[in-house]
Amino acid sequence: MVIGLMIIMAIPTITGTAQAYSAQKTQEDRKKEEKRMKKFYIDVGCDAEFRGVENIRGHRVVLRNDRVYLGPTEATNPSRDGYVAEAFYIEYPDSERNPVPLGLVSQTRAEPPLLNWIYVDKETAELKYGNKTQSIEHMVGPWDWTKDESRITFTKKQLFIAVEDPRSKVWQLYYDIDDDGLAKFVTGKRRKRMVYVDLNRTEMPET
Ligand SMILES: *[C@@H]1O[C@H](CO)[C@@H](O)[C@H](O)[C@H]1NC(C)=O
Ligand SMILES: *[C@@H]1O[C@H](CO)[C@@H](O)[C@H](O)[C@H]1NC(C)=O
Repeated sequence: MVIGLMIIMAIPTITGTAQAYSAQKTQEDRKKEEKRMKKFYIDVGCDAEFRGVENIRGHRVVLRNDRVYLGPTEATNPSRDGYVAEAFYIEYPDSERNPVPLGLVSQTRAEPPLLNWIYVDKETAELKYGNKTQSIEHMVGPWDWTKDESRITFTKKQLFIAVEDPRSKVWQLYYDIDDDGLAKFVTGKRRKRMVYVDLNRTEMPET
């Protein structure tokens, strides 16, 4: 399976853990796991109406410089806009965490292919991506989906916030850790514009 191969190349620790578990897993568990590993794009929904909402609604999540942004809707140029996230769920391999949380993984570049964890930086509340060393001390999950499997959740909630860079007008993704509109994290004299958004799963066509 292609996904398996890519994991072996990029995150060797996952496969070791996955194999150890899989011995005890039932077929049903494995089917569930396979479903979780179906890759999807992350498309942004936003019900609010305000000036500039067209720079959010319907945009697709991209990964750039360790952070997570809303990319342009037209064809993206990876070197300028970032790599379009191709995400899927898999258990985060950390035996210190009980229960083992479901993590979110994405390929982060084309050549050579690299998989990283998407996580929430506990100091800044930004969504970021990185390897296990970079992510383990932060909030790595549990990532999940809503009952109808159409939207992404984090710690069972959907408190994703897009924050605008006033100069570039690019929107960056944060998670509202304290459920207070990022009061502690996005501060300053000129508080930036921000809005709660939905993260939709758009399954990638099977190749
Ligand atoms: C997100 O999903 C909701 C339904 O769950 C849908 O109404 C909305 O159009 C979707 N938005 C995008 C950008 O896919
Ligand atoms: C994790 O990523 C950092 C930054 O790119 C790198 O310095 C480090 O070597 C990586 N660690 C592993 C185990 O790949």
